[in-house]
Amino acid sequence: MSKQFDVVVIGGGPGGYIAAIRAAQLGFNTACIDEWKNAKNGPAPGGTCTNVGCIPSKALLQSSEHYEHAGHAFAEHGIEVKGLGLNLGQMLARKDNVVKQNNEGILYLFKKNKVTFFHGRGSFVKGDANAYEINVAGATEETITAKHIIVATGSNPRALPGTPFDEKLILSNTGALAIEAVPAKLGVIGAGVIGLEMGSVWRRLGSDVSVLEALPTFLGAVDDQIAKEAAKLFTKQGLKVSLGVTIGAITAGKNDVTVEYVDAAGAAQKVVYDKLIVSIGRTPNTIGLNAEGVGLQLDERGFIAVDADCKTNLPNVWAVGDVVRGPMLAHKAEEEGVAVAERIAGQHGHVNFNTIPWVIYTSPEIAWVGKTEQQLKADGVAYKAGTFPFLANGRARALGDTSGMVKFLADAKTDEILGVHIVGPMASELISEAVVAMEFRASAEDIARICHAHPSLSEATKEAALAVDKRSLNF
Ligand code: FAD
Ligand code: NAI
Repeated sequence: MSKQFDVVVIGGGPGGYIAAIRAAQLGFNTACIDEWKNAKNGPAPGGTCTNVGCIPSKALLQSSEHYEHAGHAFAEHGIEVKGLGLNLGQMLARKDNVVKQNNEGILYLFKKNKVTFFHGRGSFVKGDANAYEINVAGATEETITAKHIIVATGSNPRALPGTPFDEKLILSNTGALAIEAVPAKLGVIGAGVIGLEMGSVWRRLGSDVSVLEALPTFLGAVDDQIAKEAAKLFTKQGLKVSLGVTIGAITAGKNDVTVEYVDAAGAAQKVVYDKLIVSIGRTPNTIGLNAEGVGLQLDERGFIAVDADCKTNLPNVWAVGDVVRGPMLAHKAEEEGVAVAERIAGQHGHVNFNTIPWVIYTSPEIAWVGKTEQQLKADGVAYKAGTFPFLANGRARALGDTSGMVKFLADAKTDEILGVHIVGPMASELISEAVVAMEFRASAEDIARICHAHPSLSEATKEAALAVDKRSLNF
C-alpha cells in the first residue's frame, strides 16, 4: 500500500517548501519531494534560490563588497589596510557554508512542521480529482498518493542556441558562483539581473568585466531615470556594458572563449575572454515530471498553464513559482505557495502582483515596486513625481555612500502612490516601506507625514514623498 498524503508538493524551492509548511500548518498531512543533491549526494532542499541563486549570490556579493571596501573605501575613513589579500577559496567555502546552513534550516523546518520529505524526483503516474499517484525516484523508488498536488519545479538557465553550458568556460549561474580563480577577462552575455550581480562580484574581485546586451536600452524594465543613474554609477566603477549587440559565434578554446558579435554601430567584433557567463533569462522546468502523461497543460512557452489562482487544467493540481507565469522571484514563489495551501483549505489566499518588489543587489542596490514613469506615460495616467538624492541625506554621508536617489510616483489627482524607485545604499531594505504603503493604498502625503528616525536612509524616502508636493525640507 502506497503512502497516502493530503497534499504532495513536487519541488522544494521557495515555492514548494513554503507551500508544504503552510499546508502542514493548516492541518494537512503533507509531503514534499525534492531532488537537489549536495556535493555528498545528500538532500539540499531550497531549490535554485538556496543552492545556486539568491543565497550564494548574496553571500559572494557581501564578501566581494567587503573586499572592495577594504581596498578602496576604508582609507577615507582613516583605516589603513596594508597587505590586503584575497583568499578566494575561503570566500567560496564561506558561501558554500551559508548554503548548507539554509539547506539544513529547511530540513529542520520540515521536521518541526511534520512535513514528510522525500529526496528524489517526483513524477506523475496517474490520477483524477480523488487521488494522484506520484512516483518518487531517489535512492529507492516508491509511489505515494495524495488528493492535492502542488507542482513547484522551478526553472533552468537558458543557454544560447548551439552553446551549451560546460560550467568551466561557458558558465550559467551555477558556474558563475564557483569560479576557482579570478578570471582576468570575464565576458557576460545579458545585462539582466544575474549579469549585473555576478558581473559586480567578479569585477570587485579584480576581473575586467564586459557585459554584452542585445537590447538597445539598459535595464528596460527599470524606471528610466533610475536606470540612467545606475548606468552612470556602474560605468564609473569600471563595469563595461555594450548595448544593442548581436551575438554571433562562440568558440570555446582550451582555456578561453572567443565571442564574435556585431556591435550597435554594425561593426563586427571578436573578443577573447577567460570565462563567459551566459545570463539571458531562465526557462520553466518540467523535465521528468511526466506532465504529458497525465495531460497537465503547458503554455506555448513551456510554463505550466495556470489561472489567477494557480489552478492547472487538472482538478486539484496546482502550480507555483518559476514554473508558472509572472516574475521569476523567490518571494513571488513563496507568496503563491502560501496562497495555494490556503485555497486548498478553503481559504482565500491572495497574491497582489502590483506590489511585488524587485531588487537588484548591485552596489548601489536598485529596488522598485509598482509602475515606472514610462509605464504611466504609456498608460496615459496623470501623475506627479518627486525625487530626493542620497547626497542630501545625513546618514548616507556618514556611511560614505551618497550615490543614487529615491523617486516617488503618485496619482496627480488622488496622490495615491503608484510606484517607488530607488537606486542607492540599502535600497533592498528601504523598498519595504513603499510596499507596505502601496498595499494599504497610501498617498505620498501619508509617507510625508510619518515620522522617520533621524539620521536614517529612510528619511530620503520621506523626503522623496515630500518632493511629490514640491516641499522637500533638506534639498
Ligand atoms: P526553484 O527554486 O528552482 O526550486 C525548484 C526545486 O524543484 C529544485 O530544488 C529542483 O531540484 C526541484 N525539482 C524540479 N523538478 C523536480 C521533480 N520532478 N521532482 C523533485 N524535485 C524537482 N530571486 C529573488 O527573489 N531574489 C534574489 O536575490 C534572487 N537571486 C537569484 C540569483 C540567481 C543567480 C538566480 C539564478 C536566481 C535568483 N533569484 C532570485 C530567482 C529565484 O532563485 C527563483 O525565483 C526561485 O528559486 C523560484 O523558486 P521555485 O520554488 O519556483 O523554484
Ligand atoms: P534577465 O531576464 O534578468 O536578463 C536577461 C538579459 O539578457 C536581458 O537584458 C535580455 O535582453 C538579454 N538577452 C537575452 N538574449 C540575449 C542575447 N541573445 N544576447 C544578448 N543579450 C540577451 O535574466 P537573468 O539575468 O538570466 O536572470 C533570470 C531571472 O532570475 C531574472 O529575470 C530574475 O527573475 C531572477 N533573478 C533575480 C534576482 C534578484 O531578484 N535579485 C537575481 C538574479 C536572478
